[in-house]
Amino acid sequence: MTVDASNALLDWYAVDKRQLPWRATGGERPDPYRIWLSEVMLQQTTVAAVRAYYEKFTSRWPTVEALAAAEDGEVMAAWAGLGYYARARNLLACARIVARDHGGRFPEDEAGLALLPGIGRYTSAAIAAIAFGRRAVVVDANVERVVARLFAVKTALPEARPTLYELAESITPEGGSGDFAQAMMDLGATICTPRAPACGICPLVSHCRARTEGSPETYPVKAPK
Ligand code: ADE
Repeated sequence: MTVDASNALLDWYAVDKRQLPWRATGGERPDPYRIWLSEVMLQQTTVAAVRAYYEKFTSRWPTVEALAAAEDGEVMAAWAGLGYYARARNLLACARIVARDHGGRFPEDEAGLALLPGIGRYTSAAIAAIAFGRRAVVVDANVERVVARLFAVKTALPEARPTLYELAESITPEGGSGDFAQAMMDLGATICTPRAPACGICPLVSHCRARTEGSPETYPVKAPK
């Protein structure tokens, strides 16, 4: 993907990004606590389901210190319905470590973030890029699908994963990788969807190999069962 394509994507995002409660509306600095909370909630749960929980958590516990001071039972009860309860236990463990050992400030780099409970490769990259403006390669299932189509990757998942990561790496800009990552995720969620992608309104249509070949919906290729 060229600089042209990356700019086309960022221009589209500037206008058409989803209004999500953890996204800055003006030019204000993102709050790392809120970015972390939203990314942990979004790990295995859809944006639609996360919204109400995100609002509940941030009004009840507006800072990492407040969350760290909560009772285990209160947090587990507030999480009820989101599923994957290990996430809630890790969330609280992480908040307590950040409050107690890091003066309430999240580490700013991926390596430091990845040492915390519940923060893996995806989440550390997302927080470093979105909250701290670090260059990081943020790859979730949406990004994998967009990249597989842009480059018409013929290898099937899961074997293609390292290739898709490398290709995502190759197109991640030096500055603004947080917006870039979120633009890729929004594109995957709203236009470059698994079935019947809306190529007619896609900002990357002229850069997409799968589209040129004619069957973008067949990517990413899946291994036969
Ligand atoms: N899914 C997970 N994190 C996201 C984000 N920051 N924006 C859009 N979709 C997401």
